[in-house]
Amino acid sequence: VTAEKGGYDHFMLKEIHEQPKAYRDTMLGRINDDGKGVHFSDLKLTPEQIRNIRNVQIIACGTAYHAGLVGRNIIEKLAKIPVETDVASEYRYRSPIVDKNTLVIVVSQSGETADTLAALREAQANGAHVIAVTNVVGSSIARDANDVIATLAGPEIAVASTKAYTSQLIAFYLFGLYLAEVRGTQTTEEIATTLAAMEALPEQVETVLAMAPEIKQYAEHIAQHKHLFFIGRGVDYAVVQEGSLKLKEISYIHSEAYAAGELKHGTLALIEDGIPVIALATQEDVLEKTVSNIKEVKARGGEVMVVSYDEHREDLLKSVDYVMTIPKTLPLLSPALSVVTLQLLAYYASLALEHDVDKPRNLAKSVTVE
Ligand code: G6P
Repeated sequence: VTAEKGGYDHFMLKEIHEQPKAYRDTMLGRINDDGKGVHFSDLKLTPEQIRNIRNVQIIACGTAYHAGLVGRNIIEKLAKIPVETDVASEYRYRSPIVDKNTLVIVVSQSGETADTLAALREAQANGAHVIAVTNVVGSSIARDANDVIATLAGPEIAVASTKAYTSQLIAFYLFGLYLAEVRGTQTTEEIATTLAAMEALPEQVETVLAMAPEIKQYAEHIAQHKHLFFIGRGVDYAVVQEGSLKLKEISYIHSEAYAAGELKHGTLALIEDGIPVIALATQEDVLEKTVSNIKEVKARGGEVMVVSYDEHREDLLKSVDYVMTIPKTLPLLSPALSVVTLQLLAYYASLALEHDVDKPRNLAKSVTVE
């Protein structure tokens, strides 16, 4: 069994470490040789259809939904198309506005999630072109969709999804750049800059993986708590939602993820002495605002850990308890690095509490009931 796990104690840890390869494999063959554009000639979706897209809807469940939240930021930023992201079990019941100029993207690691499959069919019945971002190309969702963008993460065994999520992010970056290229919303230079930064990600992930001892120590500390909070703004908010889910799934510690600026509108009432608050602060245009939210937490006795960049360490240490720093990348790409810290945090917290990391209670890898 250890052989299957490639020498790692758990599938989850193995899969976390497989992310640099999953990033490379998912990018492989999609980036032009000159590094100035991307290939999506395998899609049936035509450039004309792309120019006519009026809205995009991203539909998924669980971790894949969280990738979709980042996907919304990516497509809006790069391609300037309005995007909504929904959990599949809610999508059908809210009268979504869909027609032939709606592009629907369903995201599913397994390609078998019943809620996502039902939402896909509903969207198609209303005339939408549906693209499936999936890790299993022979799956039901892949078969029913009009187009497939494969994430090449390789088989994911641990119930808590890690490399599938980050490969979904890579798929969104690539596809977002393609939409931008066709719609002319990014210059060739801008696209080339993003692609170059993407090609640096696998090595940067290795740097994050090397932070394991530091993260383990902090995980052992939070494992002594019953409740904690995550905060972030922009894509950091999307990533903390995934970090909070990961922690709940395998450590059973209760946590909530909040938009940093929203905390003061209610949840701040729950902050008391010693409550851990984990802040992601990679979006420098809103760093100052996030720091003022952190100060609100500190003033109520919360204990704050921030994930940010080295150049802000000293400044941040004036207002927080711990700082972890990750390698620098473009603001839009930071989820591909920052989430790895939160995956490791969940892993080591689960380990400290002696839970079954790979097979958490009550959960299944793939849910085929609605
Ligand atoms: C289950 C798994 C989650 C996963 C979700 C969606 O609930 O436990 O980890 O995110 O299904 O799965 P999918 O295969 O559609 O991505």
